[in-house]
Amino acid sequence: MFRSKTCGELRLADNGAEVTLAGWVQRIRKMGGMTFLDLRDRYGITQIVFNESDDASLCEKANHTGREWVLQVKGKVQERSSKNNQIPTGEIEVIAKELNILSKSEVPPFTIEDNSDGGDDLRMQYRYLDLRRKPVRDNLILRHKIAFETRRYLDQQGFLEVETPVLIKSTPEGARDFVVPSRMNQGEFYALPQSPQQFKQLLMVGGIDRYFQIVKCFRDEDLRADRQPEFTQIDCEMSYVEQEDVLQMFEGMIKHIFKYARGTEFTGDFPRLTWHECMKRFGSDKPDMRFGMEFVELKNDSEDILGGHDFVVFDSAKFVVSIVAEGCAAYTRKQLDAITEFVKRPQVGAKGLVYIACKEDGTFKSSIDKFYDQDSLKKIAEKCNAKKGDLILVLCGDNAMKVRGQMNVLRLEMGDQLGLRDKNKFAPLWVIDFPLFEWSEEDQRFYAMHHPFTSPKLEDVQYLDSDPGRVRANAYDLAMNGVELGGGSVRIHDSELQNKMFKLLGFTQEKATEQFGCLMTAFKYGAPPHAGLAFGLDRVASMLAGLDSIRDCIAFPKNNSGRDVMIDCPSKLDEAQLDELALKVDLKA
Ligand code: AMO
Repeated sequence: MFRSKTCGELRLADNGAEVTLAGWVQRIRKMGGMTFLDLRDRYGITQIVFNESDDASLCEKANHTGREWVLQVKGKVQERSSKNNQIPTGEIEVIAKELNILSKSEVPPFTIEDNSDGGDDLRMQYRYLDLRRKPVRDNLILRHKIAFETRRYLDQQGFLEVETPVLIKSTPEGARDFVVPSRMNQGEFYALPQSPQQFKQLLMVGGIDRYFQIVKCFRDEDLRADRQPEFTQIDCEMSYVEQEDVLQMFEGMIKHIFKYARGTEFTGDFPRLTWHECMKRFGSDKPDMRFGMEFVELKNDSEDILGGHDFVVFDSAKFVVSIVAEGCAAYTRKQLDAITEFVKRPQVGAKGLVYIACKEDGTFKSSIDKFYDQDSLKKIAEKCNAKKGDLILVLCGDNAMKVRGQMNVLRLEMGDQLGLRDKNKFAPLWVIDFPLFEWSEEDQRFYAMHHPFTSPKLEDVQYLDSDPGRVRANAYDLAMNGVELGGGSVRIHDSELQNKMFKLLGFTQEKATEQFGCLMTAFKYGAPPHAGLAFGLDRVASMLAGLDSIRDCIAFPKNNSGRDVMIDCPSKLDEAQLDELALKVDLKA
């Protein structure tokens, strides 16, 4: 037995006990004839004391160990004279009687402390050392609890966890596939699943009427803080349900996870907003509802309170929208310039920013003073519901959706600046009634906004041919604090309607058969009505942990270029492997 106790569990009640501990050296301090060594394991830290006058050679041995050496210590628990109330074991120490060196360590490349001196790249390269740090470990513990509570809830609800294949045929879901060459079928490729979408629908046809899976998904897309090339979904599907059943079931799951994995209880139902409402009020399909700062449209197709002042910027724009930053009227020139620069960055893309400061004395100071007198500015302030001391920020352009998107970024930035995005506050909402199709200006065609299996709203089916852009889907997302945690839809289970969808999405009959033939055939043999959704487990975990990036709740994540810098991949294949696969690498310049 290497240990009888862990380094985190000893308390005053253990005073006098003989124990054996094992762990890593956190630090060593030599003070006169005493050596104090902090021994760390997954559970905590215990101070070990070596006394030269008790056993000089044991003390000498301890003095010759170093950071991250793995030790086994046998000794007696003793109450500490000077207690450390920073750690749970701070009331005791262990007086060493025996020391065994289990493994030596080189000096680690960064300090393994809560606040490490190691930069991101270095910590990723030595991720196994990073995992020894408490904040990283705590994230993994939380993630485990979330997965465990997910399974507990879904099991209670009668869901079966079923594994689906990882080597599959490509399913177009918006991103690019990762592909795997086949040795036994040379010249042919598997794709790694972007999600198990078709399989879970086939499980419904197979009679598994409540399915879930905590499953790895793979998408070759540009990476961001909330995206990894391989990530984990809590993937779910149910038969004989309507949208409402799905929303209730999974609102229950999220509430269960928050309650049992974090101790956070939500009161009442999650609010629901239609996609259109979200876009109009917040410029986003995943609005951060922790704060207000809702959009006020000053000019749109049906209203214009800005005209008649010869201000060509507003006069020539088709759409003008504003937000009110409460209490920011006293922003300095420098601060206003910084916000203006912020919206002009290519990532945001606005041409400029108009501001109106509603001063405490009831007058207005604005970047459009030349065109709008005090009365006109007052009218705008009234429309925006701005009070004395507030700052109105205005953006404009021709494409309403584009301007809304820019204003969304500004709103979030102002929310950050004003401290309105508290990580301990959670504001969930269901976004419903998404459009079925999304128009691509670039390709001049419609794409499925969710995926091709999403069912249109019955009452909108009549517009499928005449006005596809108007058709709403039975699709829903769960958003929280500005993050899309999950999403799904009621599926089409009628092969005729499904074929029509493929046609509208530009698939020829052959292409549709090639890509989805199996599902289409399955639907000929009695497909139950079904619906489902998937949550991003990494996003749920980073939300509960209050992290900025999902990387921090993944044991071995990839960096922003999709590389694992620890095991150094992707990497080249050797010639023999390529030969077996009958592949020749001929990179295009
Ligand atoms: P969707 O594509 O919306 O739906 O994905 C579901 C959820 O998965 C998470 N997610 C990601 N997390 C980390 N990195 C990524 N690259 C990434 N991409 C997606 C998000 C997202 O909400 N098959 C459908 C679901 C369904 O219709 O049932 C699907 O995959 O949290």
